[in-house]
Amino acid sequence: MTILYFTSTGNCLAVAKKIGGRLCSIPQMNKTKEYTFSDDSIGIICPVYGLCIPPYVQEFIKKAQFNCSYLFGIITYGFIDGAVCKQMEALGKEKEKSFDYLNTLKMAENYLPQFEMGKEIRKWSGEKGKKEQEEKLNQILADINSKKTSIHHDTYLDQLLTKAHEKSYAYNCGIGMTKHYHVEEGCKGCGICTKVCPMHNIQIVNGKPVFGESCISCLACTQNCPQNAIRLTNEKSRKRYRNASVSLQELIGANQ
Ligand SMILES: Cc1cc2nc3c(=O)[nH]c(=O)nc-3n(C[C@H](O)[C@H](O)[C@H](O)COP(=O)(O)O)c2cc1C
Ligand code: SF4
Ligand code: SF4
Repeated sequence: MTILYFTSTGNCLAVAKKIGGRLCSIPQMNKTKEYTFSDDSIGIICPVYGLCIPPYVQEFIKKAQFNCSYLFGIITYGFIDGAVCKQMEALGKEKEKSFDYLNTLKMAENYLPQFEMGKEIRKWSGEKGKKEQEEKLNQILADINSKKTSIHHDTYLDQLLTKAHEKSYAYNCGIGMTKHYHVEEGCKGCGICTKVCPMHNIQIVNGKPVFGESCISCLACTQNCPQNAIRLTNEKSRKRYRNASVSLQELIGANQ
């Protein structure tokens, strides 16, 4: 099994690790220009951004070739998943191999402008949250292992919401979230933000990060700064989030 994943705070990598197989990060595949994948089963795991599949992941799927008998996708989200399965299904139909299985999985919400990270951490580390996530993930694992054919049904309302977001897409490449960033005195110039950025959009100049113009708003830099020194002017909390089963080194390995 080959798993292609994209992650900024580890949720998708945690799911990828649970499924197992050959784990390939999409930023690494882009870096090495590896776009042809051959295996019995191939899976894509990515987050929801603005009720859509992140454009960065969409572009990768458009370029990729999947030689497999079973193609699946799991899209993680924190609040509302919209019609991401329909969107992913449409991407697959453009290719030689279309998706056999698509599902969504609710996990901690990492969108700092709207959600408080402390609350998310408490919710998903508590018994109820853990059980909810484990049950759904176990179901997905059983489905994949039995090569079930099923596309998660998106409601008409989900489809309308995603269509509306697609039109005024707020999370595209460009200046992105960094226009809301400022770096506090606590920054030690360690460069970790440069290593977790999948777009190589950060440079350390005179001991401080300087952001470029190809941000995709993934929030990896601010969520993973060891000094918690990158502030968003519109953040909901000072607290930051990284999935408990993923280390900073693993995230660096995925996105550097
Ligand atoms: C820019 C951005 C936009 C997001 N938009 C949504 C959204 O529309 N709906 C939702 O439920 N979660 C949204 N999220 C939350 C992520 O989809 C969710 O936390 C995901 O599990 C993160 O995966 P990761 O830790 O692997 O990066 C958004 C996160 C970011 C950074
Ligand atoms: S990760 Fe944090 S402390 Fe390190 S250079 Fe970036 S902003 Fe500064
Ligand atoms: S600058 Fe920060 S938010 Fe933008 S792509 Fe890089 S890590 Fe993600």
